Amino acid sequence: MTDAPIVKLESVGKSYGPVVSLREVSLEVGSNEIVGLIGDNGAGKSTLIKIMTGVETPTIGEVYIRGERIDFGNYSVKRAHELRIETVYQSLSLGTKQPLWRNFFVGRPMTNALGFIKVREQKRISRDIMRNTIGFRSEGIDVDTPVGRLSGGERQGVSIGRAMHFDSDLIVLDEPTVALALSEVEKVLNFIRSIKENGKSCIYIEHNIHHVHSVCDRLIVLDRGQLVLDCPSSSMKYDELIEFLRDLHFAKADDLLG
Ligand SMILES: Nc1ncnc2c1ncn2[C@@H]1O[C@H](COP(=O)(O)OP(=O)(O)O)[C@@H](O)[C@H]1O
Ligand SMILES: [Mg+2]
Repeated sequence: MTDAPIVKLESVGKSYGPVVSLREVSLEVGSNEIVGLIGDNGAGKSTLIKIMTGVETPTIGEVYIRGERIDFGNYSVKRAHELRIETVYQSLSLGTKQPLWRNFFVGRPMTNALGFIKVREQKRISRDIMRNTIGFRSEGIDVDTPVGRLSGGERQGVSIGRAMHFDSDLIVLDEPTVALALSEVEKVLNFIRSIKENGKSCIYIEHNIHHVHSVCDRLIVLDRGQLVLDCPSSSMKYDELIEFLRDLHFAKADDLLG
């Protein structure tokens, strides 16, 4: 089933006790598309991607990966990796004194027949991915640089490059630009563009509507656990999107006031 979407959700819902985090959300992520996920704090964005990436189990609904229905008794972050779905977290996994290349291979080192880590090979691959796949161009930084010397945006680049190397089809980014300076944000947006150029897909959660609109192929909006918009970015101008979100915001305030 090569034409099946990478991920498909069918009426997926999630409750935490009395708190309903997601309400029967249905959506698809196809191949080679960048999907922007928008919504206020508490809208259910993180919950949605946690279900896709094996962190959480839905209360109701079905998830299909490349057409295969997921058995949640047998789904996990590890299984999602095996199915080439990867979440990029804000922080890297190793200590800041460790060089970039080690972070690149953390948890999945290349070893020879005797179990020794193939340092030169790992450095060569890290260098190649950083330069050629994600277009990393930072003066004075190479694969031996300790992670502590990288800026926030550059660290995101390492994580994205890592996901690309491990051949993820779908890379999930939950607010990768939060707390970054503007020049850093630009770098991250370019790394996201490189995901698309390399034929992969991405789900990108972002508060800055301008950034989502400029980099994403498709926009999805969640409002209090409900999917309220799913359309190609090209079908909605930036101003229209802002207006849509503003209306949503007022409707929500009205509901809260009763
Ligand atoms: N582990 C949890 N236990 C209880 N409530 C949770 C938990 N995780 C999320 N929620 C609730 O679910 C709703 C959606 O949260 P979340 O998916 O993190 O939203 P977002 O990422 O859009 O800000 C919120 O009301 C949040 O408080
Ligand atoms: Mg969140």
